[in-house]
Amino acid sequence: MNRDVIIALDFESKAKALDFLDMFEDKLYVKVGMELFYKEGPSIIEEIKKRGHKIFLDLKLHDIPNTVAKATISIMSLNTDMINYHIAGGREMLKGAVDEAKKINKDVVTLGITMLTSTSDEMMHDEILIDNKYSVKDTVIKYAMIGKESGLIGVVCSALEVPKIKEILGDEFICVTPGIRLKTNSSDDQKRVVTPEDARELGSDYIVVGRPITKAENPVSAYKEIRKMFLGE
Ligand code: C5P
Repeated sequence: MNRDVIIALDFESKAKALDFLDMFEDKLYVKVGMELFYKEGPSIIEEIKKRGHKIFLDLKLHDIPNTVAKATISIMSLNTDMINYHIAGGREMLKGAVDEAKKINKDVVTLGITMLTSTSDEMMHDEILIDNKYSVKDTVIKYAMIGKESGLIGVVCSALEVPKIKEILGDEFICVTPGIRLKTNSSDDQKRVVTPEDARELGSDYIVVGRPITKAENPVSAYKEIRKMFLGE
């Protein structure tokens, strides 16, 4: 298993993101999301890659199959290591995208988004119109199964969901988990937080950590401490 800590580079500009990265001597795994990518475009990815870091490009693609397959070719041309899709886009969209991604890099980590953590049971039933015999938890598992059957190699989920997902989909199915906090951190806007040690115990493959590192007084030592706790070294 390739356990690792992924730092969420939630910065508003390339300059701020690169200043942050330049504090580190280590080769990192970082997550670039919509805020930074839509502002700076492919050049932010090229700059990070030039520095030797790995990239999770968190764009959560969701559109008709042809568009998502073509978008996958575009983002894979940036040499990204991890990419993701809304499983709600359906099997045909997912399979087409995974095929294109693997043609470019057979080792790319393709992840699915099940239900966003901002979706409540009520919203899922009243707005997304999923039958109320299904809870958000049931839907997360069912979506993860569809993702696996469509060729995705993992999902983004809460660390608290990992044991159930691994029990049903197997230990090899990768779980990437945000919502990580040290006991001394504020939980910010995260509702259910888990420590790095607990994430390891629960079976997370990768933890995604933003503010506990980016807003720390000393980001390099916060990263090292969190990594040590997660890897159990
Ligand atoms: O700062 P913090 O550690 O809360 O950042 C977590 C990162 O993971 C953010 O980039 C956030 O958008 C992302 N994320 C999340 N919860 C999800 C999916 C993604 O916190 N369910």
